[in-house]
Amino acid sequence: MGMTAQPILRVLSGQSAWPPPAWLMRQAGRHLPEYRRTRQQAGSFMDLCLNPELAAEVTLQPVRRYGVDAAILFSDILIVPWAMGQGLTFAEGEGPRLPPIRDQAGLDALDVAGVAVRAAPIMETVRRVRAGLAAERPETALIGFSGGLWTVACYMIEGKGGGEFRQARRMMHGDPVFFAALMAKLEAATLAYLLAQAEAGAEALMIFDSWAGQLPPSAFRQWVIEPTKRLRAAIAAAYPGLPVIGFPRLAGPMLSEYAARTGVQAVGMDTSMDPAWAARHVPPHVALQGNLDPEALLAGGEALRREAACILEAVRGRAFIFNLGHGVEQPTPPEHVAALLAQVRAA
Ligand code: CP3
Repeated sequence: MGMTAQPILRVLSGQSAWPPPAWLMRQAGRHLPEYRRTRQQAGSFMDLCLNPELAAEVTLQPVRRYGVDAAILFSDILIVPWAMGQGLTFAEGEGPRLPPIRDQAGLDALDVAGVAVRAAPIMETVRRVRAGLAAERPETALIGFSGGLWTVACYMIEGKGGGEFRQARRMMHGDPVFFAALMAKLEAATLAYLLAQAEAGAEALMIFDSWAGQLPPSAFRQWVIEPTKRLRAAIAAAYPGLPVIGFPRLAGPMLSEYAARTGVQAVGMDTSMDPAWAARHVPPHVALQGNLDPEALLAGGEALRREAACILEAVRGRAFIFNLGHGVEQPTPPEHVAALLAQVRAA
């Protein structure tokens, strides 16, 4: 096995590969019957995230079933606040719940130094997945991840998802000193968490900033681009050559500035992004990743073929990683995923 034999790492090092490598956000999850069985065995979603044997198993399930070019660590972006000591539960069918942080006592209670110890089971999952891939499918690379700071702060301040994160946006504008102090703690914790994944064997890191598109350009620069640039530089200092994928969801035309300024090796395109526009406006040394509509995958058939063909056509010749624009939807038939990957491999 030579260096960077994995196609996805070749693309992340700036070489183009055609047909492009492919993986899917939320490829491990409730659309797979084998996941639902393991999840039941684990108990709650948090129990599954913190059980290295079962979390490694569900990370590998889509690799075995589909032969995808990347495995993404099975965990959640909200593990970082949890590892700082903020309570976290996933109520069945309702999404995450955290005791919201709105005052100095809540901020002071966040324990950055404890992150490494509390997140240790997840690092054991990373080691097990690397060993599993080496044994079962060495051409598949392991991607670790964290949330983007803005997105994770939204959940920490709001205490839940599902809305427009008004409290978080109000705090950012209205109480900037408190907000900056919260972001500084979160940045230190996120960096520790990402570096620990690299140390444990993650071969690329992805930063999911799902709510980046809510911010006006000035705040996008301050709270999305700048922290991502600092995280990226700190990772490069500790692990030279380790690639980073940034996903500032719904960034629109700010994607171009994000790609040019953060130092990431690839940018994720959400479903609304025109890949032809991105191919022109994202610097050519930054790879593109995306961006099939998860609903087209769910629908299957001609709609799926047409949408996938459109994307492949728009990015032909560019360093590109095929993916969805957001996560796989729960009712998606696994046969649709297999058909999509066959189409990409025939491109
Ligand atoms: O992509 C993957 O396969 C890797 C694992 C992963 C999960 N969440 C597992 C998960 C990743 C990368 C995430 C990221 C994540 N988590 C984001 C960013 C990406 C996005 O979707 O915008 C966000 C915002 C979260 C927070 C979160 N986690 C929410 C809002 C929810 C509830 C919604 C839902 O789909 O249930 C979760 C739960 C969650 N995270 C599940 C999975 C597989 C479902 C839990 C279950 O199986 O019961």
